[in-house]
Amino acid sequence: MYANLPALGAGVGLRRQHLQEIIADRPTVGWFEVIPENFLQRGGFLADALERVATAYPCVGHGVSLSIGSTDPLDREHVRGVKQFCDKIGSRWFSDHLCFTMVDHVNLNDLIPLPFTEEAIENVAARVRIVQDILERPFLLENVTYYAAPSRSQMSEAEFITRVLERSDCGLLLDVSNVLLNARNQEYDPEAFLDSIPLERVGQLHLAGFEEFGDVLLDTHARPVADDTWVLYRKVLERIGRTSVLIEWDSEIPSLARLLQEAEMAQQLMDEVCGSASVGND
Ligand SMILES: [Fe+2]
Repeated sequence: MYANLPALGAGVGLRRQHLQEIIADRPTVGWFEVIPENFLQRGGFLADALERVATAYPCVGHGVSLSIGSTDPLDREHVRGVKQFCDKIGSRWFSDHLCFTMVDHVNLNDLIPLPFTEEAIENVAARVRIVQDILERPFLLENVTYYAAPSRSQMSEAEFITRVLERSDCGLLLDVSNVLLNARNQEYDPEAFLDSIPLERVGQLHLAGFEEFGDVLLDTHARPVADDTWVLYRKVLERIGRTSVLIEWDSEIPSLARLLQEAEMAQQLMDEVCGSASVGND
């Protein structure tokens, strides 16, 4: 596992509407992923509930607004806030997306893919080094989806991701459903993709649902994990072994019980592929 991070098994995203149920029922789950942007600068019930959850379960931060590939100046104040947040919840690592979200100081609220260029690699790497210095914990970048090959690209997606990770010396949050979706939409072999990126840098996985619109698969995070994603997840586990995997469900969020059911499936598959040794919570 990258940077000796613990393999927490299967977890789910921590959602406001599930907080009371989690605190009251203490369901069995490996861990929770927490989006700092949903909790930062909030007091009262939210802050109190988060503290209780973080006392009872491993919690890991996952950001959505770092905009690591932007050419706007890096928002160091935001990164310092994230660091404090990670300290508070005991987050062993932190992740955000290999994309940009800010243009001319405007947050587009979307994960926009970067052109696969030398310039983008250098820009991201310089910013990751600053982020890692501030966070003082391992940092993972997540592979994102794209629906048209980013313009001016000089290399494949696999080569771009590999070069970014190596130049930045950071880890990979491998979104397995994003691999499948990009492979379908861009017509490449997802297993060949897996074999051409540095899997030893994987510190965490995501599994999410997508939807089919004509010939295109859309990354909606509003559905259960698709059968083909489970198949590819198994292939990832065969290559990397026991890890931390998160069921991502960001819109049309179902009941906690339904989410936990998906996590249970992810855990069972991990136990089946990697042996049923107890989950290493470090
Ligand atoms: Fe993801």
